[in-house]
Amino acid sequence: MRILFLDQSGKPGGAELCLIDIAKPYGDRALVGLFADGPFKDLLKQNHIPVEVLATQAIQVRKESSLVQGLKSLGQLAPLITKVVKKAREYDLIYANTQKALVVGALASFFSSRPLVYHLHDILSKEHFSQTNLRIAVNLANRFASLVIANSQASQTAFVQAGGRRNIIEVVYNGFDPKTYQTDESDINKLQQQLELEGKFVVGHFSRLAPWKGQHILIDALAKCPQEVTAILVGDALFGEQDYVQQLHQQVAELGLENRVKFLGFRSDIPQLIAACDLIAHTSTSPEPFGRVIVEAMLCGKPVVAAKAGGAIELVKHGLNGFLVTPGKPQELAQVIITCLQETEITATIANNARIIASERFDIAIINQQITQLLSHITSA
Ligand code: UDP
Ligand code: GLC
Repeated sequence: MRILFLDQSGKPGGAELCLIDIAKPYGDRALVGLFADGPFKDLLKQNHIPVEVLATQAIQVRKESSLVQGLKSLGQLAPLITKVVKKAREYDLIYANTQKALVVGALASFFSSRPLVYHLHDILSKEHFSQTNLRIAVNLANRFASLVIANSQASQTAFVQAGGRRNIIEVVYNGFDPKTYQTDESDINKLQQQLELEGKFVVGHFSRLAPWKGQHILIDALAKCPQEVTAILVGDALFGEQDYVQQLHQQVAELGLENRVKFLGFRSDIPQLIAACDLIAHTSTSPEPFGRVIVEAMLCGKPVVAAKAGGAIELVKHGLNGFLVTPGKPQELAQVIITCLQETEITATIANNARIIASERFDIAIINQQITQLLSHITSA
């Protein structure tokens, strides 16, 4: 089966990292068409996945765009759609991995008579999207997609609630290769030395810097914890959230936490960094569609505390394989951090449970089998 994957982003967000794992087994039978140049293209190349940047101009629609803004951008899209239609004729299936990819993919599917699959990495609710964008996504998926793959039950439920057809959507979780998360003790020690983390209780936060990812909640929680508790914030503002970055630095200064919070920017050594932490915090203030970092923490055998909403509830059972706290409540988060600091034995047992369960549940080999099977139904239909 030959697949044309489409993704709007040049930057490696969670949806893009997930796509790498899905496209990889197809080798030269796949092409990833991007609508923007950037480091994601390089990552695909490193993974030997054929990639081409199809758009020369950035597409101006944002998650909160109005109908008028959306219509204006359609003009810009015409050359891109023409290119995608031509490419699609060389493939058996179009696989749209993001919302703008869905818009282009839907039209390309129509003109090239190739089936369309939409991988839904978002919770299609008003909390995350404008009414216009919600309507466009649901209507295009309903009308043109043979299959929608939701990254969690939460994303599936929101799709159906927004008017999406129940009979076209299936849940497939993100897959991970457990081997990637087995780290070398000496690398971890080196990293701890470099970052001056030795002797401290380190809470790690791994996410792009964006208001709804809630890094500010962790900073507030830290101020309520003993001095030995420190935090590393790993990730960068990928989509222009510079004001938020400034706010975070200001918050750290106002709380006098300069010596207890480190901003590390975007990193590629995530498993090693996770392994250098004592606890991983996920703090999204809006429901997280899936939350790759939660599973990554589990695979590294590190305890994880997550915000109790969206896909995170499907990943974490409180007290069994992690901890859940009410989103947006620093006091509750601080309480869990202190429990993990004090109750080391029970916390280690929970982290070990999590590693065992996650290695089976999110094994990339099994996840990829599920996807191949779903796709084969479509191309043989
Ligand atoms: N990540 C990374 N480098 C960083 C910060 C994050 O590679 O500096 C990765 C992280 O390990 C995870 C992904 O980016 O795999 C983020 O995915 P997630 O589902 O947690 O959130 P998203 O940003 O996609 O909403
Ligand atoms: C999106 C979601 C995130 C999810 C990722 C992979 O980026 O925001 O929750 O983990 O896609 O499906």
